[in-house]
Amino acid sequence: MKNKSLVSIDDYKKDEYVKILDLAKEFEANPVQNILAGKVVATLFFEPSTRTRLSFESAVNKLGGRVIGFSDTTSTSVSKGESLKDTIKTVANYSDLIVMRHPIEGSARYASEVSNVPIINAGDGANQHPTQTLLDLYSIRKTQGRLDNLHVFLVGDLKYGRTVHSLIISLVDFNPTFYFISPKELMIPNEYKLLLDTKGIKYSEHREFTEIIKKADIVYMTRIQRERFSDPMEYEKTKNSYVLKNHMLEGTKPNLKILHPLPRVNEINEDVDESEKAYYFTQALNGVYVRQAIMAKIFGLK
Ligand code: CP
Repeated sequence: MKNKSLVSIDDYKKDEYVKILDLAKEFEANPVQNILAGKVVATLFFEPSTRTRLSFESAVNKLGGRVIGFSDTTSTSVSKGESLKDTIKTVANYSDLIVMRHPIEGSARYASEVSNVPIINAGDGANQHPTQTLLDLYSIRKTQGRLDNLHVFLVGDLKYGRTVHSLIISLVDFNPTFYFISPKELMIPNEYKLLLDTKGIKYSEHREFTEIIKKADIVYMTRIQRERFSDPMEYEKTKNSYVLKNHMLEGTKPNLKILHPLPRVNEINEDVDESEKAYYFTQALNGVYVRQAIMAKIFGLK
């Protein structure tokens, strides 16, 4: 992991996920350390973010490093037409690590090829969001006590949802049973089903989950992402497909946890927030520890 970019979740193997999760647990117990003193981390966000950017910045600050970057390209030379390649090569001169979110799929891989410092992909279009996946794995392991043999429900936008795509790839090593619940316009792409077929992983596809939710260990809700639709009418048709309400949790397994990468729009009713099964805000907090662990590994400090 030392000095290596993290672009796709399959850049890491199963034993490396476990090392990151174990180290994140150490950071959770002791989050303030001075191990990044003298390091500069650049956060380049070509797309909006609250959790990913601020949890990275919080993680760097707690570890004694410094942050530079932007959260809006209008104040940068990108608005004058500067290419991604030139932006990355320039910022690599000013920093030891670049965390980048960009709307174009494959942009993070491209950045890693032109940069002489490691790149962490903080989301590239509908493709991947590997640090979210590692914090999702951390949250699953922490709440379930294991990653193996879980019944995982993925609900909402399974077509464009990059967090869903990365999570599927990472869980393949842990013999899950997947339940894909989506409108027909936003079904899981075939490439993921092919992967699961190849690996012998069980999955089924559904339009509703009110009847089957009692089987779930994890329900991973996602937002229908308006920004990914080229046709606004398609968004309007699908935007209210699923709304999880507290009464729907009656009779569910005691260990069930509701996860969501956030932000939510209205797919989880606020009456769920008070349930002990709601875990999404703690999940977002876990992002700080997991991102501390990822950076410590990339810098070769742990
Ligand atoms: N989960 C996630 O990526 O949230 P943000 O878009 O707020 O970073």
